[in-house]
Amino acid sequence: MRYGHFDDTNREYVITRPDTPLPWINYLGCEDYFGLISNTAGGYSFYRDARLRRVTRYRYNNVPLDCGGRYLYLRDEKTGQFWSPSWQPTRHDLEGYTCWHGLGYTVITSRYASIEASTRYFVPLGATLEIWQLTVTNLHPSQTRHLSVFSAVEFCLWDAWDDATNFQRNLSIGEVEVDGGVIYHKTEYRERRNHFAYFACSEELAGFDTQRDAFLGPYRGWDRPAAVERGKSCNSLAHGWAPLGSHHVWLSLAPGESRQITFLLGYHENPPESKFDAPGSLTINKQTVKPLIAHFLQPENVQAAFARLRDYWAELLGQFQVETPDVHTDRMVNLWNAYQCMVTFNLSRSASYFESGVGRGMGFRDSNQDLLGFVHMVPARARQRILDLAATQLQDGGAYHQYQPLTKQGNNAIGGGFNDDPAWLVLAVAAYLKESGDRSILDELVPYDNRPGSETPLLEHLQRCLRYTLERRGPHGLPLIGRADWNDCLNLNTFSSTPGDSFQTATSRDGRTAESVVIAALFILAAKEMAAIARWLGQAEQAQQYDNMAADMEATVVAYGWDGEWFLRAYDDAGDKVGSAECEEGQIYVEPQGLCVMAGIGSGDGPGRAEKALASLRQHLATAHGILLQQPAYSRYYLHLGEISSYPPGYKENAGIFCHTNPWIMIAEAIVGHGDQAHDYYQRINPSAREELGDLHRCEPYVYAQMIAGRDAPNHGEAKNSWLTGTAAWNYVAITQWILGIRPTLQGLQIAPVLPAGWTGFTATRTFRGVRYHIAVQRVGPGNEVQLTVDGQPLAGNVVPLPAAGQTEVQVQVTVH
Ligand code: GLC
Ligand code: GLC
Repeated sequence: MRYGHFDDTNREYVITRPDTPLPWINYLGCEDYFGLISNTAGGYSFYRDARLRRVTRYRYNNVPLDCGGRYLYLRDEKTGQFWSPSWQPTRHDLEGYTCWHGLGYTVITSRYASIEASTRYFVPLGATLEIWQLTVTNLHPSQTRHLSVFSAVEFCLWDAWDDATNFQRNLSIGEVEVDGGVIYHKTEYRERRNHFAYFACSEELAGFDTQRDAFLGPYRGWDRPAAVERGKSCNSLAHGWAPLGSHHVWLSLAPGESRQITFLLGYHENPPESKFDAPGSLTINKQTVKPLIAHFLQPENVQAAFARLRDYWAELLGQFQVETPDVHTDRMVNLWNAYQCMVTFNLSRSASYFESGVGRGMGFRDSNQDLLGFVHMVPARARQRILDLAATQLQDGGAYHQYQPLTKQGNNAIGGGFNDDPAWLVLAVAAYLKESGDRSILDELVPYDNRPGSETPLLEHLQRCLRYTLERRGPHGLPLIGRADWNDCLNLNTFSSTPGDSFQTATSRDGRTAESVVIAALFILAAKEMAAIARWLGQAEQAQQYDNMAADMEATVVAYGWDGEWFLRAYDDAGDKVGSAECEEGQIYVEPQGLCVMAGIGSGDGPGRAEKALASLRQHLATAHGILLQQPAYSRYYLHLGEISSYPPGYKENAGIFCHTNPWIMIAEAIVGHGDQAHDYYQRINPSAREELGDLHRCEPYVYAQMIAGRDAPNHGEAKNSWLTGTAAWNYVAITQWILGIRPTLQGLQIAPVLPAGWTGFTATRTFRGVRYHIAVQRVGPGNEVQLTVDGQPLAGNVVPLPAAGQTEVQVQVTVH
């Protein structure tokens, strides 16, 4: 069944019933202030860091699902009947309901008792607040309606982890101020904070509440707040306990009349030295925030801010647009996949409906990969991210596995020792250089572990990345795996038998034996990028050294990392093979088949390893819902393998369809020239192409999920953990750079499509280093050979060089033979 449809023209997904299988969410904000919002107005907001600057509270894994959010209630003053126009939390049978998730905004509209209510939620660019723009219309032909409108948000006490655990303190520290109808949440402001939250309303208030228990009444939930039922707020002032923000507005509407009410929920910082009103006072100095509030309560300013947001997105997406014979490809490339790449770039794996915002900060390997799908949109932001990531690198070339976005400091609780991490930094920097041509980044002085005085040029950081791997090799000469490689759950040094131990950090072996073929492939990819960069910088000798490193590692993989029919996954602590036909379970893994072929191992060699590995994968791992992580699934816990065998078969890393890995296979298939197979794999996990499977897939049909249940799971095909996944960036890379074949290189824009046989061609526009390329591809033969004409002139090879300075448009005709 379907729960909605795509509106490609308006760039929206339209949800037509509120009871989607799971909350289908969207993100508000793309700079410093962020919100998660579901199709029934659930969710929460934060400033920069979902843990350390949480603005509103959210209870994960709650019953009923997704309760707590940006709530409005309407009450008919004559009948006393009340309802939520976003369905939740009262869940009345609405007469009409539509939710539009757009780029950085969500609109929820419904009808009940002849009242239409429509709310648009968005975060204006350049501001640290969100706007809820409510329009209420009386659809009754003859009756004037007298309504009450109530708003409700529950404030969090800033540190969301502390908020959820430390009640003996937190239930005593809440503080608010109410001034001119604006509710200020200022818990902890009296001591070390100079930031506060506020909730404002454009209308004159009939009342307000700031104490949750007063608003809800004892033993009641959001579905039946006492104040709403009664039609009257308590004007409560929170002092300790649980501060909330609720406005009460009276509204009389003649038949056919519409009225608009604006609510602002924001975060604001004051200069520390003037945070109070007057010396000695404890009231917030509101001089800097009041003009902002006044500005955004003006409807024309709200309109202008919304128009700017739409233009901003139109421009970002305009960097790359395609028209292909396949609607699902177009939709994802032109819109939703790019949008998801922005979200993963901003939030890494911190805050989604499956990532609590208090667990993980910015992942080193994750953020480096997220950048691959984002760099063409705003290269300057990618540049800054690279510098932030590199600053959490350690002197020895390793890296903190995560850092907090607010402090930018490496996260000590997790530390380092994930031996794949450094390679990803090289790949991210290479992608940035290819996109931007900006060599200056390599000279940027960047510290290690953020320690002043330790700075070296970024280029040296990259060199240390390679050295880190070279200095950590095992008995076969393959890289040591450390705590884990890309697969967090293949923990070959952990050997944990203590319940609750973190599989990644409870290391109990010296780590000198277990080796990873995946890191070997990543090393080769990174070394080849370094060789290309060195050559581009005119450093032929260094380039040769990098090429030699890559060749040596390749020889090692061929000697010890090939299992006969596919690439091996690893060697464990006993020196035994993982991901081999010799194994009892877990005989073939997806990651090395993709990454080794991408690294160029076994392409065109005698035994045809690349082709063979991909054929084996097709036979053992490919399903209609995507490619499994490994087979056979582990049926029991293996002490020496760790978390991977902790999951029931078919879930997550234990033979789930871990979508992040699928695009590696699409790329590998494109590399060996199989356009049909590459696009077929692309389509299997493409959320738009799975829209019809709504009740099975269950997650949003407009974004990728981290995982789809594998063949060993009873619900094979069910998606989980949508939004924050490396799947977004890698699918974007696979389809745009390898299947459509439009690839930035250091020298220019390469065009080498590997298309499905049935495609007659496609067109694309791509902005690359400030030049707009109009690309028209036509298939004239069954193969993958291309011939290019640039501005009417035939071109040798497939890399379009940059035009002469001043030329901003280039026409490229491509024929595929
Ligand atoms: C999660 C992690 C990512 C890891 C993957 C596989 O998505 O965020 O870093 O590579 O799982 O374990
Ligand atoms: C769990 C998940 C894995 C994720 C890791 C992050 O192990 O299965 O996907 O990468 O947690 O800590």
